[in-house]
Amino acid sequence: MATVNPTLKQSADLSAGDTDLNRRVLTLIGSFRLIVAAAMLLVAVLQTDPIFLGGRYPLLFITTACVYCLGSMTIALVLRGEQAHTRQLAWLQLVVDIACITLIVHASGGIGSGLEALLVVFVVASAMTLSARSSYFAAAIAALAVLLEQTPDRLYAARLASPLVLGRGDGENFIASDIPAILSYTRSMLFLEDGEIAELSAEGIRIENATGETVQRQPKNITWSAAMAEKEGYKHFMLKEINEQPRAITDTLRGRISLEHGDVTLDEVPLLTPEAIAGIRRILIIACGTSYHAGLVGRLWIEKFSGIPAEVDLGSEFRYRDPLLSPDTLVVSISQSGETADTLAAVKTAKEEGCKVLSICNVVDSSIARTSDGVLYTHAGPEIGVASTKAFTTQLTALYLLALAMGKATGGLSTQELAIKVDALAKVPGLVEHALHSDAAIRDVAERYYRASDFLYLGRWLNYPIALEGALKLKEISYIHAEGYPAGEMKHGPIALIDEHMPVVVIAPRDKVYEKIVSNLQEAKARHAVVIAVGEEGDNELREHAEEFIPMPACSEESLTPLLTVVPLQMLSYHIADIKGTDVDQPRNLAKSVTVE
Ligand code: AGP
Repeated sequence: MATVNPTLKQSADLSAGDTDLNRRVLTLIGSFRLIVAAAMLLVAVLQTDPIFLGGRYPLLFITTACVYCLGSMTIALVLRGEQAHTRQLAWLQLVVDIACITLIVHASGGIGSGLEALLVVFVVASAMTLSARSSYFAAAIAALAVLLEQTPDRLYAARLASPLVLGRGDGENFIASDIPAILSYTRSMLFLEDGEIAELSAEGIRIENATGETVQRQPKNITWSAAMAEKEGYKHFMLKEINEQPRAITDTLRGRISLEHGDVTLDEVPLLTPEAIAGIRRILIIACGTSYHAGLVGRLWIEKFSGIPAEVDLGSEFRYRDPLLSPDTLVVSISQSGETADTLAAVKTAKEEGCKVLSICNVVDSSIARTSDGVLYTHAGPEIGVASTKAFTTQLTALYLLALAMGKATGGLSTQELAIKVDALAKVPGLVEHALHSDAAIRDVAERYYRASDFLYLGRWLNYPIALEGALKLKEISYIHAEGYPAGEMKHGPIALIDEHMPVVVIAPRDKVYEKIVSNLQEAKARHAVVIAVGEEGDNELREHAEEFIPMPACSEESLTPLLTVVPLQMLSYHIADIKGTDVDQPRNLAKSVTVE
């Protein structure tokens, strides 16, 4: 039996035959437009247009030729599967069309003759049709699965930009948009590349590339179990995933640290051998959303432990800032899904500029993993809830390991310092487990504040990115407006927002900026804010300053606090959303993998 999983998403409004036909039609239109453009240019240069407009306006022909060239370019990009500028080109085309029409009408002093009117209609119709088709095709770039009436024992699948997974079963094969969807049927999976088409029958899977050649590809064995993709008695996937964090962090550490030797080894990734690290002069971290917040923390760790300058950028911004890159820059991309379009595009740009790319990724063989030069996998298991939780803490774990490995290679960390940090890191899963015990107390806090319309999250240093992450979690699942801010910046603007209706979540572990953030807390209190403090158990001073106190376990290594402070914030968001009754696992307007720009 061949099965299309019902969760297949974004199936474009096209059939397979339609797609093939459209590719051919588009190629034809593209070629036709190029020929017409060349002819128009020739007419304009020779200025011998005896038929239309009496040779008055060669500019008109040049403009029309431009319209046609743009059309061809748009089509070429669509056919190559590059979504980047197709929409913009389609719109630009429309603008030029209108300019062209205006010129024609002006040139003919109104629509003078039947022939001129015909020309107007022709230009308008062809340009607008193509503009619309280009936009349509740009939007339709997706993964699709098709069952034809004529061949009911066969399924066809094609991929362009969106992920598509093929599962190999025993006498049955599967198509899905994501690994978890078919985990309960098979763990043997193949991943389609852009432009590839697959034919599935009960007996087998055949893959062809865009030029019709057969592609031989070995299936990968996915180690995730089917149970991992089920709720297992939890009300929501998000709650289950929050509770899985101790296990996920342990799995991400496994085989990479040695307590006996107080050491870290990431030799599984050739890019991260001590010799390879010695050649790195700069680190550029690229990610989106929650993964970006992990990157902000990772940057601080890398710089502190290794002394290598590091910066962080959003995937969606990176390409547009003309990045200054050199071969001794290591680009580190972070993505749970490995399919985020902006991050993937940034990775490609970095590679084009000659940089090596290391990815921190959760999904084996995802597009970003395959495009990178090396992958440091997080072992979070499948994350189904749209709001990222265990993926975030495992990303932090992987980044901490990376920072330690770099500190070891550069000598930024002594053997003794490394051993102390490795020892503290190994204790994190137990501390996260402990942090989960505050669940009931956090639920109580959520009951008291779920009606608030705005929250402010304040943190400093390593916990400033955690303030951003706490605010993101709250807004994406509870739809409450929330802002994360570096606490020291509060006085430069956001303080104006504070009144007795504004809960202010202050993240205050006892680290080197503790005194500073307590002072920020008092500033907020003086403006009548309702302060919800997240602090270490037994911190009575903090408890006294705040209306609400959410305890977290203390950690011997202050650099590790982000892994602990984020847990109560995830739980607070979860409970607020649950009390409000929003769709926790699939909040409105959001997708788990953002495969469009
Ligand atoms: C996290 O809660 C969000 N759903 C979102 O910000 C996400 O982190 C972002 O889309 C990046 O996804 P990725 O890690 O799969 O690249």
